[in-house]
Amino acid sequence: EISFFFPPEDTLAVIKPDTQHKEEILEEIQAQGFTISQLKDTILSREMAEEFYKEHREKPFFSQLVDYMCRGPCTMLVLTKENAVQEWRAAMGPTDPDQARLTAPESLRARFAKDVLENAVHGSSNTEHADQKIKFIFGDIGEIIPDTASPPLET
Ligand code: PPS
Repeated sequence: EISFFFPPEDTLAVIKPDTQHKEEILEEIQAQGFTISQLKDTILSREMAEEFYKEHREKPFFSQLVDYMCRGPCTMLVLTKENAVQEWRAAMGPTDPDQARLTAPESLRARFAKDVLENAVHGSSNTEHADQKIKFIFGDIGEIIPDTASPPLET
């Protein structure tokens, strides 16, 4: 009998600005067995948001997306689990909450997204992006604040 061992993997998750359901999202993350390896609240500058979403630079919604992501604090997380990238994408559900409610009613976007733009959460789409975005967000900016001990934001 052959069994496989999958080493833990990291993905970058973001709880987007103005999400009214941060606590429920954090509870769901823990209920689904992700380890929160790093967490911090950050307000992205325009430049950072543009860099973060550079893959979407040509999309018609790019400037709206950047405006939205800089509007207030984002909660940035590194989630660790076997197969974390795919598992977190499954936990989020489809980008558009109308579709999420039809095909994945238990997913975070089905439950908490307002629309395709204000869709509550982000997750890396593959392991290469995950490594790159984790480095971008946690690499050399700011300090890492442990879960549960986040002090009030300085705005
Ligand atoms: S794609 O083209 O498949 O890569 O796009 P997708 O991953 O579904 O979405 C990319 C991000 O853009 C945000 N966004 C929109 N997507 C589609 N249509 C509209 N109108 C739109 N507006 C904003 C969407 O929320 C995705 O954000 P992230 O943070 O990556 O989930």
